[in-house]
Formats: sequence, structure tokens, C-alpha cells
Amino acid sequence: MSAEVAREPENILIGLADRPDTEAAAGLAELGAARCAGTLLRELALRAALFPEPADKTTVKVSLRLGGELLGYGVTLGGGVAEVTQSAPQGALASLSQDLVELLRAVYGAPGRHTATLELHVADPDRPLLDPADPAHAERAAAVTALHQLAAAIGRPARSLDELAVRFGSDKWGGHWYTPHYDRYFAPLRERPVTLLEIGIGGYDAPDQGGASLRMWKHYFPRGTVYGLDIHEKHGIAEPRLVPLRGDQGDVPYLEGLAGDIGPFDIVIDDGSHLNHHVLTSFRTLFPHVRPGGLYVIEDVQTAYWPGWGGNDTDLNDPGTSMGLVKGLLDGLNHQERRPAADETGLSYTDRNISGVHVHHNLVVIEKAVNREQGAPSWVPRDVDPESWYTDAARNN
Ligand SMILES: C[S@@+](CC[C@H](N)C(=O)[O-])C[C@H]1O[C@@H](n2cnc3c(N)ncnc32)[C@H](O)[C@@H]1O
Repeated sequence: MSAEVAREPENILIGLADRPDTEAAAGLAELGAARCAGTLLRELALRAALFPEPADKTTVKVSLRLGGELLGYGVTLGGGVAEVTQSAPQGALASLSQDLVELLRAVYGAPGRHTATLELHVADPDRPLLDPADPAHAERAAAVTALHQLAAAIGRPARSLDELAVRFGSDKWGGHWYTPHYDRYFAPLRERPVTLLEIGIGGYDAPDQGGASLRMWKHYFPRGTVYGLDIHEKHGIAEPRLVPLRGDQGDVPYLEGLAGDIGPFDIVIDDGSHLNHHVLTSFRTLFPHVRPGGLYVIEDVQTAYWPGWGGNDTDLNDPGTSMGLVKGLLDGLNHQERRPAADETGLSYTDRNISGVHVHHNLVVIEKAVNREQGAPSWVPRDVDPESWYTDAARNN
């Protein structure tokens, strides 16, 4: 699988977008200017579709320059469509031109203003268009709206995660209220070329249904690659930077192979079966493949209390449930206080590599980082009568 993923042009372009101008231009030429332009325009068209669109399909003429080469495309927007054709349309009222290197930066580069070579044009009408009922009036308004969609997408505004959830129909906002929490933890990673794996695509067994949250993540992380894992075949939801995978989150050899192919991960989100033994297996297998500084998120931990899902509503510390696991992680977080710092015997992987556990209603966010902070000073007695300790300490001061 790794070779397949590495061949994806968008992954190569994301890496190229931060290179100096001459290197980026050489890279685009080597990959093929037309292939790169097509990939960038498809991404741009999908982003443009998030802005207000004309009611009917409208095609904008797009010209892209690389060195002496001029490439012509049509981008059709409106009426729920976002399509790219590899030929300049005849008679388009709106047109856009830009250097290909700058478009690369606008789409996949570091955030900033990438518009120095951008030219926008709308053809002048041959007469005043004063009557809104005049078809030429509507045609021109549609061309302006579609051109605005593209120009706005080149500006790459940071959209709120709540807005993206609603736009794509994810229940992570509305039903659940997870996105404000997610935004708090994910915002520092937002402009990085993250690798995100979400377990659970949705849409039951229909191969072209589901993927609401994956689309939301893809637009939240404009330089990220989003993988979705589901027990059902989901090839119909694939799009640039969104890769559906079929597999069982309870299958350890499969998960190990997957992590070897597409890991390490910046973010793993478990929104799969929510069966407790699956949650534990996925966490134990995939957490070691999260990058230091990355995050592992478990959703819908209410099933920790639901017996039918492998939960336990009598023993709330049951280590076989997701919340039992999480409670155990908390003691691991403070392992320095339970033994001398130098004594690493008996420490688990999670003791040594978890720096934070954030528990919200039904949502747990686990931060991965080296956990070797020094403990309380050794001269502070561990077994003392607190009242006399404070009295003595005050006297000693
Ligand atoms: C709650 S839905 C995911 C919703 C999606 N993450 C979203 O927010 O749009 C749960 C998904 O987990 C999948 N699933 C169930 N058991 C699984 C397993 N053992 N391995 C992987 N996926 C599984 C189901 O097919 C279903 O699509």
C-alpha cells in the first residue's frame, strides 16, 4: 500500500509547496505541469464549492503558467457541481490566470497571501444590463459568483470546524458536541501536512455512503491526508486526500500492517464499532504508531457503561472497558510519584509516552509525548501525618 499512497500526486505536491520557487517549478515540470495543474484545480474546485454558488452550472476559464508553458482549463461550478475539464472553454464570461507555482502555494503551501500573479477578469457586456429578468444579466451574475468561489478558495480562509461539521453533515456537531473540543486540541496541527486516521466511516454497508467526518477533516486540514477505516467497503467516497480503507479494527495483524504502510499518524480517532474490546485492541495496537506530539481520540465512551457493548455499569474501574483503560492511564501519567525517577522497571509503553489525558463528556483525547517529567523532591516524606508535617515544615522555615 505504501507505494500506492506515495504515488498520489497530492502528497507529492504538498511536500513541494514549501520548496523555494526554482525548486518548486522544477518539481512541477518533472511531475508534468498538466498533471499537477489538474490535481491542484480539482482540490481548488472542491474548496470553492464551500462558498455561495450560482444556481446553474457556470464555467470559468482558467489559465496557468509554468515557465513558457500556458495550460488552459475549465472549472465548472454551481448547481452542486465542482468539475475540472482539461480544455479552455469557448465563450466563458469569467476567467482567471495565475502562475502554477503560486497556485501550488495557495492550495498546499504554508498559509499566507498567494495572489501576486493572480488575474481575474469578467467580460464586459455589450450593453447595460439593467433588467434582472434579462437572461444576460443572470448569466453575468452567475459568472461573477463562480469566479468569486475560485478566488475565495485561493485565499484559503480558515473555516470553523463547527461550520464544516454542519456543511458535511457530521454528527460531531449537532447530536454530539465534539467539534469545539476537537478544535481546541487540533488547531495547533491545522496547517501541518498531518496524517489522520479515523476508524469508522459511516453509511452502513453502502460503498458510496458515509465519510461526513472525513470530508470535514480534509477541509479542516488543508494539507492533511485523511484515511478512513471501515469494516465495509467504501471505495465510492474516495477523493483527493481522502482515502477509504477496508479492515477490522479488532484485527491486530491488519492494524500493524496498516500502520506500517501509512503511519506514523499525527491523529487517530476511534469512531468505529464502540465495542469495548475493539476500542482497547485498536488503542493498544495503534497508539505506538502515533507520532510524539500527536493525539489519539476515543469517541462515544458511553459504551463503557453499557453491558451489551462489553461495558460494565457496576465495576466502574473494569480494565476491560474504555473508561477503565483511561482511568488506568491516569495513574501511569503520574508514575514518577509512585517510584524513584531512575527506576523504570515495570513501566508500560503508555506510562512512558502519555503526557495528557483529557476527558470530556463521551470523548477522550490522549496526548502522546515523552512522560519523564521529574517527580516531587525525594526529601519530601511520602508517609507523614500531614498536620505535623505542615507544622514542622513551617517551624523549619
Ligand atoms: C459511527 S459510524 C462512523 C461515523 C463517521 N466517523 C462520521 O463521524 O461520519 C461507525 C462505523 O464503524 C464501522 N465499524 C463497525 N465495526 C467495525 C470494525 N470492527 N472495524 C472497522 N469499522 C467498523 C461501521 O461500519 C460504521 O460505518
